[in-house]
Amino acid sequence: MSRIFSGIQPSGELTIGNYLGAIRNWIALIEKYDSIFCIVDLHALTIQYDPSRMQNRIRAAAAANIAAGLDPEKCVLFVQSHVPEHTELTWYFNTVTPMGDLGRMTQFKEKSRQHRENINVGLFGYPVLQAADILLYKADHVPVGADQVQHIELSREVARKFNSRFGEIFPEPKALLSPSPRIMGLDGKSKMSKSMNNYIGLVEEPESIRKKLATAVTDENRKRRTDPGNPEICNLFTLHKSFSDAAEVETIDGECRSAGIGCVECKRRLADNMLKELDPIRERYHDLEKRPDDIADILRSGARHCSEIAAKTMEEVRDAMGLV
Ligand code: TYM
Repeated sequence: MSRIFSGIQPSGELTIGNYLGAIRNWIALIEKYDSIFCIVDLHALTIQYDPSRMQNRIRAAAAANIAAGLDPEKCVLFVQSHVPEHTELTWYFNTVTPMGDLGRMTQFKEKSRQHRENINVGLFGYPVLQAADILLYKADHVPVGADQVQHIELSREVARKFNSRFGEIFPEPKALLSPSPRIMGLDGKSKMSKSMNNYIGLVEEPESIRKKLATAVTDENRKRRTDPGNPEICNLFTLHKSFSDAAEVETIDGECRSAGIGCVECKRRLADNMLKELDPIRERYHDLEKRPDDIADILRSGARHCSEIAAKTMEEVRDAMGLV
């Protein structure tokens, strides 16, 4: 069985962008692959944060993933900092990664703009830690949204550089794009993300979701209710394709183009279909919140499993680098 590895930051509140771009795809893949998923708390330290809230954020991220359907019986879920080999391998990879490659990373440029007061070395080296995450487990595939493809390319480059200098140890991992790889925010302008405050939360309350959808940007050329709309350029139509069944998507397409329905009705149907999928996730999430010990057990057993694999890889790496 080939192996997939992917990670998610404990951002406090996961978005439906995370769900559609990553988690829902992970769930679809766990039967076919040896699957490892990681809450990447070390990556989350690269921007300002409140240490007293970090534990909760990690637990919430784990609960949301499990509630969404990542069955801990069928895959491994663990916390990055529980397996210290991630940071050790990062250091070794730092010595083969050209600074120029890191300076070209789109996400580094974006985050440097957003956090001008805190452009730290960790933020710059973020993709090296990501390469270490993936290569420590010699993963073949990395299921991600479109924004992570450049980082996976860099991981391939790091594997190539390391192998050519120290011998063939790492496979070159390939990105596996989700069927909805780039979910735009409710502003219709930038990628949906917590930091842009243009998101719907994966476990957000229904009333709040309906309110947010009501103000979401649609096809801006459709000024009046009687104007025909253009679904291809409407962000909410993309969400319909993710949450509504094929027949409903076709109906909406036709009714929007003929001005048979307006945006208000289209949004109402979207909210209904979205909540059909999200209601049970939210309920399971609140149930898990009441069982922190169960989450801790799942994460502890995940870390144990990963530590064994990590220890083997690191033995090979130290040996190849002349460190034994
Ligand atoms: P993060 O936490 O930003 O996002 C986690 C996953 O969610 C996807 N995603 C989206 N997909 C579509 N549309 C969106 N609006 C959207 N927002 C988020 C991301 O593509 C990602 O797959 N650097 C990674 C975490 C990481 C990692 C790894 C991933 C650390 N180590 C190793 C893979 C392998 C990140 O910040 O993800």
